[in-house]
Formats: sequence, C-alpha cells, structure tokens
Amino acid sequence: MRVIIAGGSGFIGRKLIVELLQTRHEVIVLSRRPENVHKIFPAARAEFWDAKTSSVLVNILDGVDAVINLIGESIAAKRWSFMQKQKILSSRIDSTRAIVNAIEQTHHRPSVLLNASAVGYYAHVPEDEVTEEYPKGSGFLSDVCEQWEMEAQKAQELGVRVVLLRTGIVLDKNEGALHKLLLPFRMFFGGYLGNGRQWFPWIHVQDEVNAILYALDHELINGPVNLAAPQPIRMIEFCNALGSVLHRPSWLPVPEFALRLMLGEMAEPLLFQGQKIIPQKLLEAGFKFRYPDLENALQDILR
Ligand SMILES: NC(=O)c1ccc[n+]([C@@H]2O[C@H](COP(=O)([O-])OP(=O)(O)OC[C@H]3O[C@@H](n4cnc5c(N)ncnc54)[C@H](OP(=O)(O)O)[C@@H]3O)[C@@H](O)[C@H]2O)c1
Repeated sequence: MRVIIAGGSGFIGRKLIVELLQTRHEVIVLSRRPENVHKIFPAARAEFWDAKTSSVLVNILDGVDAVINLIGESIAAKRWSFMQKQKILSSRIDSTRAIVNAIEQTHHRPSVLLNASAVGYYAHVPEDEVTEEYPKGSGFLSDVCEQWEMEAQKAQELGVRVVLLRTGIVLDKNEGALHKLLLPFRMFFGGYLGNGRQWFPWIHVQDEVNAILYALDHELINGPVNLAAPQPIRMIEFCNALGSVLHRPSWLPVPEFALRLMLGEMAEPLLFQGQKIIPQKLLEAGFKFRYPDLENALQDILR
C-alpha cells in the first residue's frame, strides 16, 4: 500500500512510520521540515507541506491508497492564549480541509482517510460510559474536535472511507502525558491531580499504532472510533499504579486551584474532565488490545 502520513514527524506518527515500513508499505511523509524526517526515516519519502495549501498536494496524492492525517499544534504545550487557541484550531482545520480539497482534485482517489481527533469531543458526564455514540460536549476542545471532524467527513462525499481517530491519552516513556508525570514520581513527589476521581482514558502507544493500522486494513470500520484501553480507570488509580511500577509513593496530590493557576483554561478539559471511554467500535470489529491492563502497560513502557 502507498500511504501518506501528514504530521508523521510527531509522537504518534513516528511510531506509525516504523510499523508501516516494517510491513513493507510505501510511506510518504508530509512535513514542514522534510529534511528532519528524511534523516530519521531514509526509507520513507519526505515531502515539504505547509499544512494548508491544497494545490501542491494534488500530484503527491494521486494514486495513493490511504491518507493518515495527524497534524495539529500541541494542545498542552502552552497556555491557551487567544493566539494559541487560533493555532490549535487552524492547524487542524486548514490541514484537513486542504487534504480533502486535494483528494477531490486527484484522478485516482485514496480509498481511506484516517484523521486524528480526540476524546475531548465528548460531553463530560462523570459516570456515563462513553461509546462513539455519545454526544458532543461544550467548550473549546470539543468545538475544535467537532469542526475538525466535519472537515474530514467531507471526504466521504467523494467516495472515501473516513475514520475519525478519537484518541485518549497516549502513553509512552519519552513523550506525552506520562513522560511529564515521570519526573515528580521519580523525585518522590508523585500524586494525583485534582480530586483524583476523574477518568483517565489512557492507551499504550503500541495499541494506538496497532489500532490505526487495524482501521486502515478493515474496510468496515468508519466514522468515529474511540482509541482508549478497554478497562477505564480513574486518575487516582493511574497514579497508584504508576507509583507501584516505579517503586515510588503516590502521596502528594496536586490541588485543583494550583493547577488552574498554573495552566489556566486548559486545566479543566485536560485534567479534570476525563471521560469513561469505551472503545466499542474497535472491540466489535475484533481488535485485540495488546495492553488492556494498565499495570502491564506501564511495566512494558517503563521497563
Ligand atoms: N498524543 C496524544 O496523547 C493525543 C491524544 C489525542 C489526540 N491526539 C491527536 O493526534 C494527532 C497526533 O498526535 P501527536 O501527539 O503525534 O502530535 P504532535 O507530535 O504534537 O504533532 C504532530 C505533527 O503536527 C505538525 N504540527 C504541529 N504543530 C503544527 C502547526 N501549528 N501547524 C501545522 N502543523 C503542525 C507537526 O509536523 P511537522 O512539524 O513535521 O510539520 C507535528 O509533527 C494530533 O492531531 C493530536 O491532537 C494526540
């Protein structure tokens, strides 16, 4: 298969490229810095793309079998100023819109578009089980996800299968949320955030990649798909398991007011409003999680 990965230079994309190359797919990575991609993955083709102009994409896209779009300004890297929110939104909307426009203009269209999204789409109702049918929430993150998904869905009208990758918190040692939590735990200052009762919809990075590849190969999967481990846990359980795997105490909760002060508006949706996500579509489609259990996942990641 010839596969394009937009945003392939990022955390999830790099892991995905490794798997795709190992399974002998032809990989084309779109990046604002293709020279860096080429250095890491000489076996992949790296093309410059500004993440917003569709005209340059038409030729690259022609004859490609699948497009995976992972582009997006980081949600958690900086405080949500007005400008930062614009960046978070426009990096997602502009890139997705341009990809769909380019698909429309190609002679040989890809059969599938796998587009990133997030569990931040959903409404926050603390004890409900959240499958793909659950309604949208309110607030900035949820609105971003809705608009992002609407742009991707337009490819369906062009005869392309569209999969919306509603991803939870991806766990890995060197990047993402777990990476940020490791230092305080290792320094004996670990503890849960807020009251600890909020859900923590995690997924091992290997399962994230495997699930994307599964959705790529299984033609019956389409629309929104939850990517989170099938055993939902709360923040407090997550921190206890992390402490236990690291042989460190999880004893120093970080109070809500301190996090709100430190992080501003993003603290609410990112830290205090986790959903009890159920990956119903993946389970029904027969996907087997390699790490359904948190303790095993952490053992593997931190080994
Ligand atoms: N990681 C998670 O836990 C998680 C959870 C839920 C959803 N997601 C979503 O899944 C996707 C991939 O996640 P990730 O963690 O792999 O992302 P990432 O590493 O933060 O970024 C992915 C790529 O997006 C491009 N990018 C970043 N900022 C941009 C901007 N302002 N304008 C244009 N392009 C920009 C970059 O590509 P170049 O620099 O090469 O151009 C980057 O490599 C994202 O859309 C993210 O929102 C991730």
